[in-house]
Amino acid sequence: MKHLIDPTDLSVQEIDEIIELALDIIANREKYNDVCKNKKLATLFYEPSTRTRLSFTAAMMELDGNVIGFSDAKNSSVSKGETVADTVRVISCFADIIAMRHFIEGAPLVAAQTAVVPIINAGDGSHSHPTQTLTDLLTIKREKGRFDNLTIGFCGDLKFGRTVHSLIKALSRYENVKVVLIAPNELRLPSYLKHEVCEMHNIDYKEVESMESVMPELDVLYMTRVQKERFLDQDDFDRLKDSFILDCKKLETAKKDMVILHPLPRVNEILKEVDADPRAAYFRQVENGKFVRMALICKLLEWSKMEEKKNELVPAGTLVNQIKCSNPRCISNMENVDSLFRPAEEGEGVYRCLYCEAKAR
Ligand code: NCD
Repeated sequence: MKHLIDPTDLSVQEIDEIIELALDIIANREKYNDVCKNKKLATLFYEPSTRTRLSFTAAMMELDGNVIGFSDAKNSSVSKGETVADTVRVISCFADIIAMRHFIEGAPLVAAQTAVVPIINAGDGSHSHPTQTLTDLLTIKREKGRFDNLTIGFCGDLKFGRTVHSLIKALSRYENVKVVLIAPNELRLPSYLKHEVCEMHNIDYKEVESMESVMPELDVLYMTRVQKERFLDQDDFDRLKDSFILDCKKLETAKKDMVILHPLPRVNEILKEVDADPRAAYFRQVENGKFVRMALICKLLEWSKMEEKKNELVPAGTLVNQIKCSNPRCISNMENVDSLFRPAEEGEGVYRCLYCEAKAR
């Protein structure tokens, strides 16, 4: 079975195929009017969402498929104590493909271990959000025409922002990508992404605390919201919530063809006055999300029948049930699942959790 749990579950070539298909869907909508006739998508959303869930729903409906699911875990058997594995096993009997969003990191990987239909990770805690990455890539393709030779500034909550984590991973596979990490000290990018992804893939990156100083260098500015729901301390959130506010004045030194992205929802990090700037691409980005999800659904349904596309859910070298994860929000600390650790690329003897990428306890 082919699942999309992490952006790197797709090879660069598979990503290209999805982007090409999305572009063809945009150009020839009627050709795809009924390609999912009699198919069902289940959207299992354990965490709030507007864009992602409705974008999946709209995508499936435009392919003439049907959608079932829940948008609040309180309305499902989870409230009776059902595990992710059991819920997914049950839903696999009803649906041809499942999109899951969960506040527990690693929940979609557990789902993939038991499902007999493709699982799409629609966001797991502060870990990963691969379909937002496909959305961002399609937008970069349409706005800039390329993925290589780009300088991308990521601004805001780089610690908890799962869209940033996934996009950096995906971009690390293209040529001459430079990354500028713009964040307050407390919200810096997790170290595994700096070491394992940026350094190991020769991504030129730097960390700064002000966007003004780097604005002229950027081809893409990726703004993010400070992720209120992930903070354990309200005072920390209050102190950091207004760290970066993009306005027209700050954009004066930016390149004329820079592109401003934001996964949305925005709170106050981009002033409304910026919306009228032609470089503001975040509402175009939302629409791209629907097209790329249409393409992804088609491709995963096609690939699900191909043995060679199967995900390697427990790669060779994985330590099974030998060490425990240090992350309290990891599924391996919340439900009865095998603990799985992979040898990390960053050094001999370092292992990282397969569910959430944290180190051992
Ligand atoms: C993002 C998410 O859920 O991580 N939203 C989205 O899916 N478009 C970003 C966010 O919530 O800040």
